[in-house]
Amino acid sequence: MSEELTEYKGAATMEKIASLAKRRGFVFQSSEIYGGQSGAWDYGPLGSELKNRIAANWWKEMTQLNDNIVGIDSAILMHPRAWEASGHVENFTDPLVDCKKCKARFRADHLSPEEIASKKCPECGGELTPARKFNLMFKTLIGAIEDDANAIYLRPETAQGIYVNYKNVIQSSRMKLPFGIAQIGKAFRNEIVTKNFIFRTCEFEQMEMQFFVKPGTDTEWFDEWKKRRWAYYEKLGVKIDHLRWHQHGQDELAHYAKGAYDIEYLFPMGWKELEGVHNRSDYDLSRHTLYSGKDLQYIDQDDGGKKYTPLIIETSAGLTRTLLMLLCDAYDEEKVADKGNEDDWRTVLRFHPSVAPITVAVLPLMKKDGLAELAKDIRNDLRQDFSTDYDQSGAIGRRYRRQDEAGTPFCVTVDYESKENGTVTLRFRDSMEQTRLNRNELAARLSAEIKNYRRT
Ligand code: GAP
Repeated sequence: MSEELTEYKGAATMEKIASLAKRRGFVFQSSEIYGGQSGAWDYGPLGSELKNRIAANWWKEMTQLNDNIVGIDSAILMHPRAWEASGHVENFTDPLVDCKKCKARFRADHLSPEEIASKKCPECGGELTPARKFNLMFKTLIGAIEDDANAIYLRPETAQGIYVNYKNVIQSSRMKLPFGIAQIGKAFRNEIVTKNFIFRTCEFEQMEMQFFVKPGTDTEWFDEWKKRRWAYYEKLGVKIDHLRWHQHGQDELAHYAKGAYDIEYLFPMGWKELEGVHNRSDYDLSRHTLYSGKDLQYIDQDDGGKKYTPLIIETSAGLTRTLLMLLCDAYDEEKVADKGNEDDWRTVLRFHPSVAPITVAVLPLMKKDGLAELAKDIRNDLRQDFSTDYDQSGAIGRRYRRQDEAGTPFCVTVDYESKENGTVTLRFRDSMEQTRLNRNELAARLSAEIKNYRRT
């Protein structure tokens, strides 16, 4: 067995990633012209495309590729009782300490035992207050009257929207245990520590799947979903030595969890949680039964009409955190002078083609002599099936570099020979190799390349 990595083994640093993300339109600071809003980020043209493609990829994996998983899209605003039932009102807290002098606020569980014991602010040496519980949910008011009776929360996880709809889904979709419900959507947490770019933010997106199983089968399904989620990252071509499991100890378990494992990724700032796989037992459905007064038991027609509360295995990944992980994982700087290129170095994002924001860019060698028109025509052929780009400005080498930096796996170059015999050049991002083929073969070739892609 290989030794566990202690340091990120790529060329990325968070500074380089944040700078590339801004320069190329992946991620911008929210409300930048007003000095920025901490904890919130905006996704630009390449970033929103990347986010949509990660979401589509996950959605396909969870719903389309499984007979027994369906999707929903529930509201961000839920009845406040739902959050009492879920335990979030009482338990979804971080222990915080404040500096009496500089007013800085810290998570007590992020300070060292020495810092806690000294009661001294790590930033200015001022006196720290004792730790107190701080609820992470955003509370706001709904309706016209400013009254506490109108208080409502922004959801801190998408999962609860699934639990309160689980009976609706059974009745409308005739699902039978074991089955799952998947959902992608925004979640909000009043996080105090929001450093490391988009890693931990106040507004973010989750990709969650709740799998409902018969009592007694939860351990087996927990193991199964651990396997499947690990295989998913392998399929995405993520550096496998940058992934590991972390089992939650008793002191780390969330209030709803009977057991929990995180898939951690080795980011430039160290090993951090990417996704959680949780055994939530019957906690959520039992609590919603208690608080709503509705019977949420399952009637098992395959077991003589027996009634019971299903157990839940949850897979919970951050969409925006996955995007950050993929940016770090894909980022590479490569010396290319020996490959006969005019530039010495290139920055390249080696995204899997199934998530790359642009799959194929079409580039005419020259704008003149009808090459631009021909290239646009080829792009039009491809755009129905692939995410495409067209670029005619600057030297061809510079255009390749721009596409490398955007993570575009394939470029099609249209030159004078294309006009004569209908062939084009297909350039591969990772190897920078080129091959000539007829434009009519392009779509099939690209589909095959995407399907068989292996990162080198
Ligand atoms: N429903 C279970 C749940 O929400 P969690 O471990 O609190 O579990 C699941 O969150 C995932 O959501 C995390 O693994 C992470 O990827 C993402 N996530 C959680 N808090 C986040 C934040 N403040 N910013 C970005 N992503 C976050």
